[in-house]
Amino acid sequence: MQNVVLPADLDARKSGSFKIGGEIEIHRLGFGAMRVTGPGIYDGIIRHAGLSNVSIADLEAALKLFKVATVQNRYNLVDRSSEDVLDYCEKHGIGFIPWAPVATGRLSKSGSIDDIAKAHGATPSQIALAWLLKRSPVMLPIPGTSKAAHLEENVAAVEIHLSDKEFATLNR
Ligand SMILES: NC(=O)c1ccc[n+]([C@@H]2O[C@H](COP(=O)([O-])OP(=O)(O)OC[C@H]3O[C@@H](n4cnc5c(N)ncnc54)[C@H](OP(=O)(O)O)[C@@H]3O)[C@@H](O)[C@H]2O)c1
Repeated sequence: MQNVVLPADLDARKSGSFKIGGEIEIHRLGFGAMRVTGPGIYDGIIRHAGLSNVSIADLEAALKLFKVATVQNRYNLVDRSSEDVLDYCEKHGIGFIPWAPVATGRLSKSGSIDDIAKAHGATPSQIALAWLLKRSPVMLPIPGTSKAAHLEENVAAVEIHLSDKEFATLNR
């Protein structure tokens, strides 16, 4: 997967400089980018395209031009502003990649998340990831870390299964 920011005035067919292969993800969507990407996909240049930081209106506009494989928006336990986009993705079978999935490591160390973490012998970050994974079958969290210990901790979160009651408590 390549992440690219496409300039709104890029015209691939005229310049011939649009040589991105495989999968791409379009950040900060502009209508110019969509116009370029649509024909790119149909020409077989791009296999799968993803969008980042989009609203439902952006997504619907893009879907008129090409198949959207994934959406990457900020989403975590303490920032649910993309809840509607996530629901839309789930309904339409589009992968949803929540960025800042562990809220950049700043999750509260007290309250319900801490209680649930203790009950599972887990950390708040692991509970945040377990909550994301239970939230939707189209969820693909990508926690960022510079530490091998955190990487192992985050990967291990896949084994944590929250009860419906715990999930509901965290959902509040
Ligand atoms: N599409 C977009 O516009 C956009 C914007 C921003 C980011 N992203 C992408 O989203 C991904 C993740 O975002 P992010 O890195 O900003 O946020 P994040 O994954 O929520 O948080 C990363 C921070 O959390 C800490 N952390 C990670 N695992 C932890 C753990 N188990 N315990 C305690 N702290 C932990 C990390 O510190 P340590 O290094 O100390 O572990 C790092 O400071 C990245 O791949 C990034 O490229 C996309």
